Amino acid sequence: MSKTAAKFDEWYVRSSYEEFVQQEGVPLYEGSALEDLATLELGDWERRGGKAAYTRMGEQENYSLQIVEIPPKGELKPEHHVYDAVMYVMKGRGATAIWQEGEPRQTVEWEEGSLLAIPLNAWHQEFNSSGDEPCRLLFGTNMAHVINLYHNFDFVFNNPFSFQDRYSSSMKEFYTDGGIQRNLRLFETNFIPDIRRFALDPYPERGIRTSIMRLSMASVSLGIHVMSVSEGTYVTAHRHDPGAHVIAIEGQGYELLFMPGEENRRRKVPADPYAVIAPRRNEYHQHFNTGKGIYRMLAFRGVSLRYGSGRKYDPAYTAQDKDPYAYGFKISYEKEDPAIREEYYRELEKNGITLRMEPVDQGGG
Ligand SMILES: [Fe+2]
Repeated sequence: MSKTAAKFDEWYVRSSYEEFVQQEGVPLYEGSALEDLATLELGDWERRGGKAAYTRMGEQENYSLQIVEIPPKGELKPEHHVYDAVMYVMKGRGATAIWQEGEPRQTVEWEEGSLLAIPLNAWHQEFNSSGDEPCRLLFGTNMAHVINLYHNFDFVFNNPFSFQDRYSSSMKEFYTDGGIQRNLRLFETNFIPDIRRFALDPYPERGIRTSIMRLSMASVSLGIHVMSVSEGTYVTAHRHDPGAHVIAIEGQGYELLFMPGEENRRRKVPADPYAVIAPRRNEYHQHFNTGKGIYRMLAFRGVSLRYGSGRKYDPAYTAQDKDPYAYGFKISYEKEDPAIREEYYRELEKNGITLRMEPVDQGGG
């Protein structure tokens, strides 16, 4: 006789990612915005030592963040996994050792502002080199996607496959060669000592005196970019698939979030380091610089330009202006609600910052 489940609860399984985070015994944070990843409360992390937390933001479960803290002079236990992870250092200094099974290790030293990619399924281990301060790390990952696809933790964390095409100890300059500019606004590298000082390319399509660099790192299929908005300016609102996480890494500003058709219900999120926003599907988002100097952001997103997107790179993004159904449609300055700019004026005034934008002609007098 075949066994039949009597109730929905008997066969329904909640997401594997949720089950995984529960097993880790640390907090899972949700929503579209978190105020400060550097002070976010973490839980004791038995699996690797230190403390940790995970996110499920923007009403999606493909891309997420892992926040990790290592105590002074402490270290994490080594791990390897079949998902991509790119590490940003929010606080402190230390080192990461990277190696393939049976091969010698390479060690990379980092400090606040460093960005480092972990090659897929390579062993990695993090160390805090400070004797009196904890260090706090942020990993942008597609772990939720991978864990949900295979729903077998052993496959994800105990897989012997060695991706020699991506990394081996014979690649001696892997973390030190400084990278290569592949194209306008597209740079390939595996380690950047301080992305707050990293040179970006102009990006006028998104806003006045805005600049960006898209990064391809360690062959990961995650999209990564660093974007900067100059003093006294803001960028145009745009929208796209969920899964992108924008982290404020330098300066001071705010983010506006609103759904199409709900422009009068805009949500305003103060953003200075290390706030994060993760817009929902098609939720407009818009970055405003209200401080002195630049406002700089780091973004992790699902779409890599080099691997796994199938989407043609259009440097001009022309469709974003004209077709409201185009991927990444944006609202030009001319077409945005004038209240958005008025509110921005008031914010600048409060901080004694001069507006550096031309008035827009919205037509109709
Ligand atoms: Fe975006």
